[in-house]
Amino acid sequence: MIQQSTDAAPVVELRNIEKRYGQVSALRGMSLNLHKGEAVGIVGDNGAGKSTLVKILCGAVQPTSGEIRLNGKPIGFNSPHEARLSGIEIVYQDLAVIGHLTITQNVFLGREETRSFAGVKLLDNRKMDRITRKLIAGLDPGLENRTRVSVDSLSGGQKQSVAVARAMAFGPKVMILDEPTAALSVEKIERMLTLIRTLKESGLAVILISHRLQDIMTVCDRVVVMKSGALVRDLHVCTTDIDEIVKLMVSGGEMGAVSGALGSAHPEGASTRSG
Ligand SMILES: Nc1ncnc2c1ncn2[C@@H]1O[C@H](COP(=O)(O)OP(=O)(O)OP(=O)(O)O)[C@@H](O)[C@H]1O
Ligand SMILES: [Mg+2]
Repeated sequence: MIQQSTDAAPVVELRNIEKRYGQVSALRGMSLNLHKGEAVGIVGDNGAGKSTLVKILCGAVQPTSGEIRLNGKPIGFNSPHEARLSGIEIVYQDLAVIGHLTITQNVFLGREETRSFAGVKLLDNRKMDRITRKLIAGLDPGLENRTRVSVDSLSGGQKQSVAVARAMAFGPKVMILDEPTAALSVEKIERMLTLIRTLKESGLAVILISHRLQDIMTVCDRVVVMKSGALVRDLHVCTTDIDEIVKLMVSGGEMGAVSGALGSAHPEGASTRSG
């Protein structure tokens, strides 16, 4: 596990983020920091605001108010494309792959490689296929031989591998995985957890949203508990356990839990409390 120094500057800072959909408050002053080489798990009940928070970070949803900083600089992404250009990639809960396109076309969608031939720009299909095969082989061995079939013909777990390959193809700095294991078999879950460790070790910052608390405890450095759009607690995994996390998810940190957060060794225990 890579331990973060308490004073290392965060790669990503989300400060006091609010998101309202008409009468619904999806996020109420949510804050979160993320460091290089760190994996942070976000947990919370259905509707807690986890997906909304990461959709804001990746430019798919605009916050009602609040601030996002990337390497200390305030930023605002008007689209997922802008966030990608800054190195923020997301693999969505509801798998955003395009069924009638091939694996390779999905991986390079909107970022196609080209080559010049007699002064004309052509798609470099060979290059794209070569890169895709290499990526897919590492994620889902065997699937690399099917990079030219349409994604419609793949299983849920294989589509998941395509979505992850797409996110990895362009050397991201921040990788967000929203329920990446939902469609996966036990063996593939293990592979996904290994992948997350590899991403961390190569210096990426990773956000993992999962209802599988055991996965979060295995690969994450910190766990952020959300309820009703707000932060409940931000804990180092080594200072907590699944029992405590479940209690916090249910209680929202009431009944004495909050005083523990402020007194914990965690550097952000107090500063990232929502306000
Ligand atoms: N586009 C939208 N329009 C209106 N309300 C929305 C929209 N997206 C999310 N919400 C609402 O915002 C709240 C937070 O939703 P969100 O999807 O972020 O939750 P979540 O924590 O990811 O839940 P789950 O674990 O079920 O994926 C919910 O009450 C949801 O109904
Ligand atoms: Mg969600």
